[in-house]
Amino acid sequence: MTLHAVYPGSFDPLHNGHLDIIERSSRLVGALTVAVLHNPLKDTARLGVETRLGILREMTADFENVSVETFEGLLIDYVRRRGAHAVVKSIRNAADFEYEAQMAHLNRQLGGGLETLFLLAAPAWSFVSSTRVKELWRYGADVSGLVPGATLKALAKPSR
Ligand code: PNS
Repeated sequence: MTLHAVYPGSFDPLHNGHLDIIERSSRLVGALTVAVLHNPLKDTARLGVETRLGILREMTADFENVSVETFEGLLIDYVRRRGAHAVVKSIRNAADFEYEAQMAHLNRQLGGGLETLFLLAAPAWSFVSSTRVKELWRYGADVSGLVPGATLKALAKPSR
């Protein structure tokens, strides 16, 4: 059986920590779908969903077993619809662990045994989050060491 895993997130914006998880998890599973959460009724993201998809597609173009999609609603429903077997998540610190453990337990209980596979964030990226990247960018800091070029380009554009 080919293990098909889903790596879900807002990716608003994609940063180097995300890319590291995509690269590492794609080596462990047969197929990896990066799933971008989109709430069309309440889209408060800094970057529009099409922009986030575009960045991810550009940055994963060389990974043969990685695809990029968007999803709405509950993750367990999306994973079931796609016939995927597991979810991939990253843990940077104890706060992530608390939050992600709760999500993983709920998703396993409500998702018919859906398992979450956790990868520890690489030390180099363990302090990077999309929230911090956006804050730094807003105040004019140089975030080029934290995000790929495609993200920098998108942040620099006035449109979403
Ligand atoms: O990058 P983020 O914002 O940390 O990603 C969070 C995400 C998208 C993985 C999470 O919010 C999610 O799974 N949302 C879909 C709604 C859902 O299934 N909630 C689960 C409650 S247990």
